[in-house]
Amino acid sequence: MKDRFLVTGGARLEGSVRVDGAKNSVLKLMAASLLAEGTTTLNNCPEILDVPLMKDVLEGLGCSVTIDGPTVTINTPAVVSSRADFDAVRQFRASVAVLGPLTARCGEAIVALPGGDAIGSRPLDMHQSGLEKLGATTHIEHGAVVARADKLVGAEISLDFPSVGATENILAAAVLAEGTTTLDNAAREPEIMDLCDMLNSMGARISGAGTSTLTIEGVSKLEPTTHTVIGDRIVAGTWAYAAAMTQGDITVGGIAPRHLHLALEKLKIAGAEVETYEQGFRVRMNSRPKAVDYQTLPFPGFPTDLQPMAIGIATIADGVSVITENVFESRFRFVDEMLRLGADATVDGHHVVLRGVDTLSSTDVWASDIRAGAGLVLAGLVADGETTVHDVYHIDRGYPKFVERLNALGANIVRLTD
Ligand code: UD1
Repeated sequence: MKDRFLVTGGARLEGSVRVDGAKNSVLKLMAASLLAEGTTTLNNCPEILDVPLMKDVLEGLGCSVTIDGPTVTINTPAVVSSRADFDAVRQFRASVAVLGPLTARCGEAIVALPGGDAIGSRPLDMHQSGLEKLGATTHIEHGAVVARADKLVGAEISLDFPSVGATENILAAAVLAEGTTTLDNAAREPEIMDLCDMLNSMGARISGAGTSTLTIEGVSKLEPTTHTVIGDRIVAGTWAYAAAMTQGDITVGGIAPRHLHLALEKLKIAGAEVETYEQGFRVRMNSRPKAVDYQTLPFPGFPTDLQPMAIGIATIADGVSVITENVFESRFRFVDEMLRLGADATVDGHHVVLRGVDTLSSTDVWASDIRAGAGLVLAGLVADGETTVHDVYHIDRGYPKFVERLNALGANIVRLTD
């Protein structure tokens, strides 16, 4: 069913909102449960479409999974199937997170190549070469990535780029390898730290989480665990930018503000007042935002997943902003939709120059991925009149109760179903 959102612009958002667990963590933690026979329990899981999709993937591999509100329980059998070759896998990118765990657990993984967001080419070369360094052979066959290993042995691995997904798959394989692995130029995202915490609580020996060098001493067996997923920094950042764009006042809970440090610093430069607490922050804005330049980079740089929000605030800022995308090359498709809303933007390679306009002008726009969809909703909040955002199934994949929570903060949004 293709739902759409009718967004009436003009409201100032005010109030409090709490974020749930991070989409980009929970899916990898669910995949990591394949590493140990028995019952793994994950708390603080977000109620988004990708969680039941990952449940389907794990059930296709022989696990039984129950989702009870924010608690996901996964029962992993002694023998899991190594073949993730079914429709659920193709539907979303994060399913590739089963590659490392299956290679370690079964000595073989056959994982259908995922689909996912239209944000640019997403090859698996670093996932494959990392597993190869650990002793696996890998190749692509009939639309699936195949990895095989009689045994995995620790190795020294350096990534060309600190890929989040490659770091996760290599970690999940190395924890059960014989001997020590060092992974250099590893991703430092908070979701990697969350995965390391869970793996260590299962009996893994990983040190260096949150730095660019991870050291993994392999163990022969892992035990199931109970783990609480970290808060979603991208959802929290979306609330922060919604507050600043609507000249509102929003307090966000359930998130460590250090996970969003640069995004909040940028809002301060734009003129917002930002207060931080141990597990939350408050963003207040009383004037038109000032123009600010952004460049997306791996953590602790500005997150590519908040780039649509940076573009959103820049379109209505006082002055000219330059936004540079360094992580995914096709993410500027979103700019075409912003042009339809009256943004004054020029794209040049991986830069976009935005000259702030006084107001956006409502029209019909189409979400092309999760974050672009959320960015279009924020733009609709500051456009004059009624903006219709189509293809909102993308947003449902990553933002729990988005419309309900925005309306509780004072927005005027209706979900329309054909
Ligand atoms: C994850 C997040 C995504 C976020 C991204 C960067 C999930 C489900 N998704 O995606 O929301 O935007 O991190 O923070 O967690 N690359 C290669 N070869 C590889 C792997 C990656 O060239 O083998 C490239 C990609 O094409 C991209 C860049 O590296 O240009 C970063 O990708 P990566 O960090 O791997 O992102 P994902 O894990 O796919």
